Amino acid sequence: MNTSRLPDRDALLALLDGVRDPQSGKGLVSAGLVQGLSVRTGRAGFMMEVAPGLLELYEPVRLEAEQVLRQAPGVEQAQVVLTNFDGPGGGAVAAAPPAAEEAPPAPGVTRVRKGARLANDPQAAPSPPPNAARPAHVRRVIAVASGKGGVGKSTVSVSLATALSGLGLRVGLLDADVYGPSAPRMLGVDGDPEYHPEKKLIPLEAWGIKVMSIGFMVDEGAPMIWRGPMASSAVRQMMHEVAWGEADAPLDVLVVDMPPGTGDIQLTLIQKMKLDGVVIVTTPQEIALIDARRAASMFQKTGTPILGVIENMAYFADPATGVPIPIFGQGGGAAEAERLAVPMLGQIPIDVALRQACDDGRPLGVTAPDSGPARAFRQAAEMLRTRLGLARG
Ligand SMILES: Nc1ncnc2c1ncn2[C@@H]1O[C@H](COP(=O)(O)OP(=O)(O)OP(=O)(O)O)[C@@H](O)[C@H]1O
Ligand SMILES: [Mg+2]
Repeated sequence: MNTSRLPDRDALLALLDGVRDPQSGKGLVSAGLVQGLSVRTGRAGFMMEVAPGLLELYEPVRLEAEQVLRQAPGVEQAQVVLTNFDGPGGGAVAAAPPAAEEAPPAPGVTRVRKGARLANDPQAAPSPPPNAARPAHVRRVIAVASGKGGVGKSTVSVSLATALSGLGLRVGLLDADVYGPSAPRMLGVDGDPEYHPEKKLIPLEAWGIKVMSIGFMVDEGAPMIWRGPMASSAVRQMMHEVAWGEADAPLDVLVVDMPPGTGDIQLTLIQKMKLDGVVIVTTPQEIALIDARRAASMFQKTGTPILGVIENMAYFADPATGVPIPIFGQGGGAAEAERLAVPMLGQIPIDVALRQACDDGRPLGVTAPDSGPARAFRQAAEMLRTRLGLARG
């Protein structure tokens, strides 16, 4: 059972600084090895990123850090995730100036190392990356993306995942939105994924869907620090170091909820994943369409097939008459799908029940499968299943 006391962040940092970094001889915090410290009731955890080839050296450090955290007042569960800097420039990380020459960061401040930034600079690694691969035992990986924020990517990701699962497919959802994870709230699931060194991280499960979210790894409000290389490393880990499927029961499709925008973070993330395709979400509004176009072109440049467009908030049905009122304009999504020569996967109305379902963590596809939005998502899921070659006998 969890204690109701929140562990003291500064005290934890002080304790962690008492654990020695075998390379620099400094404490872990001073050496910049404590990244994204998550402090929640009864638990604490963080990610430790080390250069390629150093995992073995740091495994005892990871265990020691977990032990130290577990002994702190208010901490019952501790999780320290050890991961590699990766990417084609990985060697640049090893060549980065030793941490010993750097001034220690202020307590609670995370240092994003220059070596890591260089190594993950998308400009330095033209795509598609040769080493991108699907996670083990995952048949298809699709991303849900938009240029503009707040157009309903997370709503669409969760609804599509639910609908695909309703078609009898084995489905996973990876919430890669480093700006503000949504999956925990929209699926009503939270907790610490268990970490088994051999078996990897075990995803949480909700409504028959396997779920991993940056929200499980960091505090609410903290994701803003998961920028650039750290974000990409965390996402890479959530893709590849998670037991999404088993050899005899592979995951059919992993849906990745992308952060909004078309900046470096998004580009880096795309380059880390072997995507089978992307679903572009837009509203009918001109400004959203311009951004959707930018997103589509980013994916096209990285060689990722665009599977189709979902027009969200397409209209509002007059509660009295049922007549559609096109609040954000009309026909934009369809025109964009035509321009891209991809199918229009669905038009989702502005729907109070859909918003409520997302806020309550009770997906409409499960709780109200006959509702309009649930039916629209089911149809979109059927089209995707065919496009992805996942139709089952
Ligand atoms: N079709 C819809 N009808 C009613 N509300 C909706 C609809 N689609 C999304 N919403 C609501 O709009 C808000 C934003 O949606 P959502 O979080 O899915 O967008 P997003 O694109 O993922 O945002 P961000 O860019 O911040 O990640 C949420 O409160 C969601 O419940
Ligand atoms: Mg979102």
